[in-house]
Amino acid sequence: MDIQKNLTPLSAERIKNADKSGFSQGNIIVLDETESTNSIAKALAAEGASHGTVVTAESQTMGRGRLGRRFESPKGAGLYMSVIVRPSFDIAFAPLITSAAAVSAAESVEKLCGEYTAVKWVNDLYMNSRKICGILTEAAINSKGSLDYAVIGIGINVGRTEFPSELRDIASSIEAETGNIIDRNILCGEILGRLEYYLENIEEKRHISEYRRREMLTGNHITANTGGREVEGYAIGINENANLLLKLSDGSEMVLASGEANLCRIRRKMDE
Ligand code: BTN
Repeated sequence: MDIQKNLTPLSAERIKNADKSGFSQGNIIVLDETESTNSIAKALAAEGASHGTVVTAESQTMGRGRLGRRFESPKGAGLYMSVIVRPSFDIAFAPLITSAAAVSAAESVEKLCGEYTAVKWVNDLYMNSRKICGILTEAAINSKGSLDYAVIGIGINVGRTEFPSELRDIASSIEAETGNIIDRNILCGEILGRLEYYLENIEEKRHISEYRRREMLTGNHITANTGGREVEGYAIGINENANLLLKLSDGSEMVLASGEANLCRIRRKMDE
């Protein structure tokens, strides 16, 4: 499906110019079509590609999401980018990479289109209660047990205005929500600049206050799947490690480090 309309084509030169931080050092690969930019980035990283290398594509034929899901990536309709990072920080901070990427993407989207952009724990961005972006971080550990590299894959629906009926109520795009057609090259550059800053300062957890401010499950009844277990509770907040804090019906508290959570709509209705 070719639904490219008015979007400026992706260009390594334009992304480089928009990346004021110089994070990518000009190591930017723009592909027309690929299976998955994360797969390409992982292969490049395994061959020694440097910190900050970026892979983007106009379309992905097998875009990957979390939990083995597919990430639909039609041509010219979104920003599909993967960034190779070779962090110097201790592996203990690795779980914070995705939340730093979520804040970087949310701030960048909001800056360019002017619309409030929420984060849903752990790594989705929402606009007006619909998902506009997902993030998939894949890491490789070396023989010494430290982080060799991580690939941060970010998929943002930018100009996509047609969604299959089963996604129409839950997914959207920047253009569908705001009417704004933004330049994906500039968006990519903005994200890179913030990503570099938040990763450089990950030990100080500088992104966490912004993550908390934008997180949309907090203060709601939710259901969560964590470690194959379904739990239900009240989301009371996000801790210093970007974990979700849940209060269960028996009064006990639970700390969720990973998993998937959603608003519990039935319970919310009863509370209204
Ligand atoms: C999710 O919503 O579960 C995460 C989606 C991540 C999609 C991005 S698009 C760029 C990169 N390449 C992939 O195959 N996946 C990520």
